[in-house]
Amino acid sequence: MIGAPLTRVDGVAKVTGAARYSYEEPVANTAYGVIVTSTIAAGRIASIDAKEAQSLAGVLLVLSHENAPRVKADAGDRKLQVLQDDAVFYDRQPVALIVADTFERATDAASRVRVTYDRKAPATTMSSPGAQTYTPSQANNNPPDTTRGDFDAAFASAPVKLDNSYVTPTEFHNPMEPHATLAMWSGDELTIYDTSQGVFPRRASVAKIFGIPDTSVRVVSKFIGGGFGSKGGTNPYCVLAAMAAKVIGRPVKVVLTRPQMFGGFGNRPRTEQRVRLGADRSGKLTAMAHDVRSQGSRYDDFIENAAVISRMLYAVPNQITTHRGVRYDVVTPTYMRAPGESSGSFALESAMDELAYATGTDPLELRLINYAETDLSEQKPFSSKSLRQCYAQAAQRFGWASRKAAPRSMRTPDGLLAGYGMASSTYPSNRSSASAAATMHADGTVLATSGGCDIGTGAYTAFTQVAAEAIGLPVARVRFDLGDTTMPPAPEAGGSQLTASVANAVHAAGVALREKLAGLATANRNSPLHGRQLADLAFGDGRVFVRAQPVTGERYADIVRHSGAPSVMARADVQHDRRAKGPYSSHAFGAHFAEVHVDPDLGTVRLARMVSAFAAGTIVNAKTARSQFLGGTVWGVSMALHEEGRIDERTGRYMNASLENYLVPVNADIPSIEIILVDEQDEFVNPLGIKGIGEIGNVGSAAAVANAVYHATGKRVRELPISPEKLLT
Ligand code: MOS
Repeated sequence: MIGAPLTRVDGVAKVTGAARYSYEEPVANTAYGVIVTSTIAAGRIASIDAKEAQSLAGVLLVLSHENAPRVKADAGDRKLQVLQDDAVFYDRQPVALIVADTFERATDAASRVRVTYDRKAPATTMSSPGAQTYTPSQANNNPPDTTRGDFDAAFASAPVKLDNSYVTPTEFHNPMEPHATLAMWSGDELTIYDTSQGVFPRRASVAKIFGIPDTSVRVVSKFIGGGFGSKGGTNPYCVLAAMAAKVIGRPVKVVLTRPQMFGGFGNRPRTEQRVRLGADRSGKLTAMAHDVRSQGSRYDDFIENAAVISRMLYAVPNQITTHRGVRYDVVTPTYMRAPGESSGSFALESAMDELAYATGTDPLELRLINYAETDLSEQKPFSSKSLRQCYAQAAQRFGWASRKAAPRSMRTPDGLLAGYGMASSTYPSNRSSASAAATMHADGTVLATSGGCDIGTGAYTAFTQVAAEAIGLPVARVRFDLGDTTMPPAPEAGGSQLTASVANAVHAAGVALREKLAGLATANRNSPLHGRQLADLAFGDGRVFVRAQPVTGERYADIVRHSGAPSVMARADVQHDRRAKGPYSSHAFGAHFAEVHVDPDLGTVRLARMVSAFAAGTIVNAKTARSQFLGGTVWGVSMALHEEGRIDERTGRYMNASLENYLVPVNADIPSIEIILVDEQDEFVNPLGIKGIGEIGNVGSAAAVANAVYHATGKRVRELPISPEKLLT
């Protein structure tokens, strides 16, 4: 069952509206909170006049820095602006929360709060006079700077040298479900229904903020309409909901408006990346420097670890990588799908494409010339690596061999410029400790649980399959539940780690359950299995049986019934330190091939087709996995051609704060993307051989499109998105 293309077990609930999202949880007496956000990007609140708002019918509370309860504004992984003082650090920072008996009344009252400011002229770009560069202590848990060999000497003596800078803009996540929390207190016990990528990490940070034990907080997150990193860390709306619920002694729910999702609550930071490549005339790399500058806030550190991918993707002996943050008057950025690798791969894989043209080498051949047989950054072998197979299978399917080498040398039948481009992809295989439980009921059905979250990836489905396989039951007899801190702990659905972490725990719990059931049978003198050894038994189709004599066996349901207990439960705790360094380096790999058509007169770029191949160890569900690769790949197309958060340099406010003006691709922008799943077994990465697939589709995809645009037009655009005016000027 592991690997089968099982249709989503929660699909019907989602399309019929039965799936309940956090904001929809029906709780009696719930009040509605609406956040008032700042209209300046830097300065102080001079006054808050809420008299009119407060006088309106149904208004229960106006919370501001003047009366908000004092909390610890450090959420563990980030510092939050939660009405603790009058400082304003970014546009759309929360400055008040209005709570009323209906959402409409709260919205109306919020519009009548008058805030005046002592405004400072904000620094609104990375090159503004007031922007400050800093050296971070880490870059998304990686060392910010690395060196190997002697870059300066190797670069100085390289026969071929390239030195170019690449820019990726600020981008927003745009999950369909906006951020939302329903919070309620019972004495000092807090329950929150929160749209969250990880209920356990959320519980830990909320407990820390309110200064209460973890065990006093319950977090529930059953269905999530997309996260992409934006629902990883704790955000102010969640804390404000809990604060208000405490003050008024009623459940309070808070949802962000769509415009508030742009600029006030985290984004992929803008990066400016300088890449220097030194190579011999055949294209073999001798030197590489990748220097990253990452958009940052005034009050907290977050670095887009864009150069990390350059440390291991190619066999380059002499290298420098650096990350610097640039502080200006914006919100602290956050993780967005494949944080680091996504923006870093645009720079690295564009630079590699430039090197291919500079040396007259085919871009795919250039990757093979520089293929890394080991991970030079960790000086370790890969636990498995099938990048060659990804290149070969995708290139074959795409028809890469028919590409004409020269830029601007291919045309479509109707006269458009045609271009082929490719890029490599990789993402580290992460894993954290996870626990799971499995309970066999007397009717022969199983409930398996682990407190992970399904952010839309298909976790419910994948873990149902793993449990069914481990226990030896058809999937129809297994129900998997998740998203609640009352369940065994699981890590955040982030860093592409959830499946690798939780599946191994679910599998172990399933095996423990079947062995417990076998033990009950062999100990029961009325069982046909009485006295048998576990080693002689096999499991399948809802029963335990003698391997050499399958007719001799007992059904799970009967074993439970004979046990005298209503059910039989087993639990597994699989420990894994995510930072622990084993003997191998583990990464998933992939390759993207793209064809674009460009109108030479208008500069409009259309994706014609893409073929992308990935090798990521064990694929738990071929159908949901394909969707993950596809979604990630589409996002790369979007990054290449569409997305850009545009800031008004006078005010520090994002100007295109809506799904009308912030461009994302629609179906007509994505004609055909073919995904190839390359077979790969990895016996070292973890017991089930799962590498993780949530983010890798997004890595390299933008570069493949950008490289195709260069091939079509002969014009290299190094600042995303590739909009028509950049091709025409
Ligand atoms: Mo992912 S951006 O690590 O949720």
